This record gives sequence, C-alpha cells and structure tokens, in this order.
Amino acid sequence: MESLVEFISVASETAKEAGHYLLQNLNRKKDISYKGQIDLVTNFDRRSEEIIYERLRKAFPGHSFLAEEEIRQERASDYCWLVDPLDGTTNYAHGLPVFCVSIALVYRGEIIAGVVYDPCRDELFTAGLGQGAYLNGSQVRVSTTSELDRSLLATGFPYDVRTSPDNNLNYFSRFAVKAQAVRRLGSAALDLCYVACGRFDGYWEMKLKPWDLAAGALLVKEAGGRVTDFQGNTFVFSCPNIVASNGLIHNSMLEIIASESVK
Ligand code: IPD
Ligand code: CA
Ligand code: CA
Repeated sequence: MESLVEFISVASETAKEAGHYLLQNLNRKKDISYKGQIDLVTNFDRRSEEIIYERLRKAFPGHSFLAEEEIRQERASDYCWLVDPLDGTTNYAHGLPVFCVSIALVYRGEIIAGVVYDPCRDELFTAGLGQGAYLNGSQVRVSTTSELDRSLLATGFPYDVRTSPDNNLNYFSRFAVKAQAVRRLGSAALDLCYVACGRFDGYWEMKLKPWDLAAGALLVKEAGGRVTDFQGNTFVFSCPNIVASNGLIHNSMLEIIASESVK
C-alpha cells in the first residue's frame, strides 16, 4: 500500500482547493438544476468535482473514483476515492454558509482515509485508519455525554421525504422528546465530523450515499466513537442508514430506532 500520510495530504490539499472555490462563489448567482423534486445541483457542485477529479487523477492515476455528480469510467483498482464535491448543496444554493467537501479513500472495501473541509470556518477534519482523528492538525475525541436526555443530536431527511413514508419523521419525533435537542444542519459529512469532535453526541440518518458518509464515518471511529447501521451492525461504506455516536449513548439510540421500526 502507498503511504497513508501521502493520501491524506493530497486529499487535504484537494479538499481545500475545492472548498475555497466554493466559498468564493457562495454569493454568486447559481445555475440550478433538479435531480428530483427537491434534490438540486448547481454548476458549482460540478466544477468542484472537476477540480477534485483532476487533482486526484494526476496524483494517483491508477486509482478508481466514485463521485456524486458524474459517472466516470471505472478502473480496476484496489483503491477507490469516494467524493462529495459539495455536501450541503441546498444550504449552498441559498447562500447559507454550512457546507463542506468530503473525500474518502477505500482500499479493498475498507475506508482507510477521510478528509472533510469546511471552508466557511477553515476547518479541516482528517483521519487515517488506526491513526486517530484530527481537526486542523489537533487530535479530537468524541464527547463524554452518557445520557440521551443530555445529548445534542443531529439528523437529516431524505430527498424523497415528500413521497415516501419511510422518511425519518417517525424517528425524529421520538428523538425530539428524548434528547436534549436535535439539529438539522443540512450536511451529513459535517454532522459526522461534529460527532467526532464532540460538538454533537450522536447522529442518525437514512438513505444516504457512500460519498456522504465514508469520510465522516472514519472520523467518528478514529475519534473513539461507534458507527453502525440501524440494527447495530458494523457500518460499511455502502450502508445507506447510519447511527454514529460517542459510543456511550449508542444503545439508547438503537433502542429508539428499533422501537419505531416495529410499528
Ligand atoms: C445531502 C446532505 C444532507 C442530507 C442529504 C444529503 P448533498 O447531501 O448531506 O444533510 O440530509 O440527504 O444527500 O445533496 O447536499 O450533497
Ligand atoms: Ca452529500
Ligand atoms: Ca453533494
């Protein structure tokens, strides 16, 4: 395997370049198109993805690449980069400064590196498998809150919230009366980073894609937290449903999800 340090370093520079590009254009008029009823994409999502693709392809020409906006020819490689060029695109389209760039590297099916960059706060979250989680170079840990009652949680809602009954509103209404408070930031990758650094105690969401979750999930694990699917099985990057926490409140979160799921 090539060097994890090099992967993280190149991914960090790449995420910063794309993030700075996004920030520069935050208040510009955007070309918006719709992938679904409320699932939008801007010209800046696409350009950010090109910036990332060009830089990673140059540095690691043999690696494969899976990104949100464009299907590219797959190469046979043990390494695959998972890229969300703009996580929080609805916020971005409205000029709300809560969004990030998320880049993960998977090696033979395992997430080995994760980088998330928030250009609005100049916060770079990085993690390498077995090497801890970092915010701007300083090691971070999950929170020590041990009761759900005292926990600040985060979640999000799927793009088919208007049409599918499986839309998280049932879980949300339960957590809203069990936790101290629940937030909806609009960026799954940042939600996970905030669990990793202790700002949130837990997070759950459904119907997500590998590029939304892979980098942030590694950050939570490397920060000492726990990451599973809704049944409590170990999270793998292809899981669409996720529960991530400081570990201490994880079983309480899974119990709430289980009690809602059987109805
Ligand atoms: C979305 C954000 C949001 C989550 C959505 C995701 P996008 O990603 O992470 O927080 O609730 O389900 O799809 O579309 O902004 O890249
Ligand atoms: Ca996303
Ligand atoms: Ca996106």
